Amino acid sequence: MVQALDQLETPALLLDKDILERNCSRMSQRMQQAGIALRPHLKTAKAREVARLATHGHSGAITVSTLAEARFFLEGGFTDILYAVGMVPSKAKAAAELQRAGAKLTLILDDPRTAQELGKAAAELETRFPILIEIDSGGGRAGVAAGSQQLLDIASAIHAQSTLELAGVMTHAGHSYHCRGPAEIAEVAEAERCALVQAADRLRQAGYPCPIVSAGSTPTAVHAVSFEGLTEMRPGVYVFNDLDQMGIGSCTPDDLALSVLATVIGHNRRSERILIDAGALALSKDVSAHEFFEHVGYGRVCDLSGKVVNGLYVESAHQEHGLIAAAEGEPPYEAFPIGSKLRILPNHACITAAAYTHYEVLQGNQPLARWERINGW
Ligand SMILES: Cc1ncc(COP(=O)(O)O)c(C=O)c1O
Repeated sequence: MVQALDQLETPALLLDKDILERNCSRMSQRMQQAGIALRPHLKTAKAREVARLATHGHSGAITVSTLAEARFFLEGGFTDILYAVGMVPSKAKAAAELQRAGAKLTLILDDPRTAQELGKAAAELETRFPILIEIDSGGGRAGVAAGSQQLLDIASAIHAQSTLELAGVMTHAGHSYHCRGPAEIAEVAEAERCALVQAADRLRQAGYPCPIVSAGSTPTAVHAVSFEGLTEMRPGVYVFNDLDQMGIGSCTPDDLALSVLATVIGHNRRSERILIDAGALALSKDVSAHEFFEHVGYGRVCDLSGKVVNGLYVESAHQEHGLIAAAEGEPPYEAFPIGSKLRILPNHACITAAAYTHYEVLQGNQPLARWERINGW
């Protein structure tokens, strides 16, 4: 039995199904028009129902950020899985178990010694791992430069291991998160593409295979002008979007599918704050949208119907308390009596969602279903 929205226990994670479906089909069509594969990253959604919507019309290939996600989605029927966090030999046994359970699991690495040791571990486990070499296209998080000697050293180390198969290259243009607007994002997207194409060309010229050329972040997938030379994109947060993506220019206010339902638990007239039962654990302490907006705090306030209340935001977040302030003057206490409910739009959907075991899925603001999430590692 699904309850009415105002009867749900709070904090709760609300997911608007219509917006989710629109976001998924827009990205799906964009990739189909570009003629490349969509391998959505499920680190944001961590739910099988979302994976089905996101892969609809595509091969069913997915990207994950944990082996727990890989297991969960494999059990849900998704077999073609890219584990897109640097692989280490200590995880080889778990990866081999996934293969035995039916996964076509591809791994990534950016170090020749790791390749050597992973090859040995694979031999002991009597298995073989397909590998993508991670390229740093400017984000500075992981990966080697496309023009570096390291790229060829890693390829050679992979090639020397009969238990590893060089399957291609991948990158994530994380620095697109600091762009402002489509033009800047398009530049980063082009840098992401060029780095990968350069790396793939160098590998092929050196005689190595490079069938997969895999790029992607939401901003670059949304605003890239060319996908030439790429075989697939791996956007993830586009399924929900958030205030940060809105600030970057990857989505509009109508594309925000996720919000946190909270209850008003107090009026602190001395400090001019409305208190809610959604604090740091329910919203996260991510303040990424500060780069783009004033008065955004730990999230913007909406009424129960999801309509933004101008100027209201979660100004501070204690473990279980959120304190709502108005951009100017006192917050509207009468509009939000103690016991009433409201919604908060998160800065960063991936991090906020991580606190919840499931989504309360809404259609036309009516709770429709609960979708399970796979948290943990
Ligand atoms: C390796 C990798 N690929 C793809 C993505 C998806 O990017 P986004 O979250 O911008 O959709 C991420 C996100 O962090 C990532 O780490």
